[in-house]
Amino acid sequence: MAKYLVTGVAGFIGRSIAAALLQRGASVRGIDSFITGKRANLVGLEAMEFIEGDLADPAACARSCEGVQIVFHEAALASVPRSVADPVATNVNCVNATLNLLVAARAAGVRRIVYAGSSSAYGDTPTLPKHEGMLPNPISPYAVAKLAGEQYMRAFSRVYGLETVTLRYFNVFGPHQDPTSQYSGVLAIFCRKMLAGQQPTIYGDGEQSRDFTYIDNVVEANLLAASAPAEKVSGQAMNAATGSRITLNDVFTLLCELTGYSGKPAYAEPRKGDIRDSLADISLAGNLLGYRPAIDFREGLRRTVEWYRAGGGQN
Ligand code: UD1
Repeated sequence: MAKYLVTGVAGFIGRSIAAALLQRGASVRGIDSFITGKRANLVGLEAMEFIEGDLADPAACARSCEGVQIVFHEAALASVPRSVADPVATNVNCVNATLNLLVAARAAGVRRIVYAGSSSAYGDTPTLPKHEGMLPNPISPYAVAKLAGEQYMRAFSRVYGLETVTLRYFNVFGPHQDPTSQYSGVLAIFCRKMLAGQQPTIYGDGEQSRDFTYIDNVVEANLLAASAPAEKVSGQAMNAATGSRITLNDVFTLLCELTGYSGKPAYAEPRKGDIRDSLADISLAGNLLGYRPAIDFREGLRRTVEWYRAGGGQN
């Protein structure tokens, strides 16, 4: 059976992919630098070989790719506001790291890289839903960096014949997402705060909308992308999402129901680099991978609230 490498394995998406692979009896190696990853996320992954290292270091990339057939590249500094505060750090950890990994993967004879792309590539275009035929229009340093990684994937597929598949994630959420950082995803922050009876802050009027995607759907998309025929998928980028959207105000109402929070949200100035609406057309991943999101937003949110209620995400 193939050997897999998961980068960013101490982050919530990386650890979820690694857990699914281990469950299937696969041989898995993971790498993380703990810049944003959490050691607590490695609990349950003891069967995995773990390397503590940074992909900005070419030697760490070479070591992690040795003997590997398939890479899931999840490592990144994932946050729009973090990239606004420090665009160079985002570039180092998203662009340089991705290029180093590609070079090492090619040298080691890796067959395929499945890359965590981002819906932020579409930017603030008013057209909904967003489909892969649209011109990219990144508006934050984060979006530029994730898109650069995607373009490198495409180029390595074209120029060197390394198989690459980009999945453009749309606002992934679920158990194991860190709720403690100012740069955390909005659902993780809101779940933690509202369960603790604390008031969440909505940036802007709350009428911005997102296509929030439950983690299990994203894991499934990755497994499908790893095994789909190369002639169909190599060099391609496709949306990985739910295919429906909800406003933050409606998310807040739903979370009041699920958490028992009875207060009102605070409203603050909109965040710089934010886009207004996001909704994916998921037909390409459906056609190329047979991807269908099995868990809808409400069920995903219910499971997520239960995970935080049970004490998840405390360390
Ligand atoms: C963006 C990217 C997404 C990427 C993610 C990484 C877009 C469309 N999406 O998501 O692909 O994976 O970054 O982090 O660019 N908010 C609040 N209160 C809070 C926190 C956030 O109101 O306490 C608001 C934000 O202002 C934003 C929305 O919630 O309008 C979602 O924010 P966030 O969860 O950070 O994700 P995006 O920036 O949408």
